[in-house]
Amino acid sequence: MPDALELLKTRRSIKPIELNGPGPSAAEIDTLLTVASRVPDHGKLTPWRFIIFEGEARLAAGDAIVAAFRKKYPEAKPEQAEAERNRLARAPLVIAVVSRAGPHVKIPEWEQVLSAGAAAMNLVLATHAIGYAASWITEWYAYDRAVLDALGLKENERIAGFVHIGRPSDKPEDRPRPPLDQIATRFS
Ligand SMILES: Cc1cc2nc3c(=O)[nH]c(=O)nc-3n(C[C@H](O)[C@H](O)[C@H](O)COP(=O)(O)O)c2cc1C
Repeated sequence: MPDALELLKTRRSIKPIELNGPGPSAAEIDTLLTVASRVPDHGKLTPWRFIIFEGEARLAAGDAIVAAFRKKYPEAKPEQAEAERNRLARAPLVIAVVSRAGPHVKIPEWEQVLSAGAAAMNLVLATHAIGYAASWITEWYAYDRAVLDALGLKENERIAGFVHIGRPSDKPEDRPRPPLDQIATRFS
């Protein structure tokens, strides 16, 4: 297990297509969800939930994605449709982080949304901590109502991310990071 600070300083996303199996075990998935749900949550509202996509279920979800895709692009070629079916089957495991934020007498909706982002990031970090790699993406189908209905999302629910999880084949190169003097100012 990598040192925590080293992990935080070096973690990089790995593209879904480069995330190989076998994916995490059931016990490891429990660990991931336990860490993902251990996030700040103003008012203890639990304004998020998770959907696990593994095995054949990834392609069943892909059927809904391809149906929505065909509706949008009736002229699309069969190979394009096939790629859409495979969207959630590129990595061995995908966990959708679903925001359940909504109006509340005391807790701003914005804070509930932020908590879902924290859950997604914790999920990414936990994934790397147990020796796998992750990619936090949304892509077009996260915003398609027909797909969301097929995945069981209620009207008020939104996809914070589809976190793709698997084993990286290679160590990725880093990407440029913003210089600290451009993103942080000292209040005086
Ligand atoms: C909410 C959210 C949605 C994202 N959706 C996508 C996406 O659909 N496609 C994509 O290529 N990257 C997406 N990204 C960015 C990826 O996570 C990206 O791989 C990452 O920013 C690379 O940087 P890293 O190596 O520091 O993780 C998204 C990021 C966030 C926070």
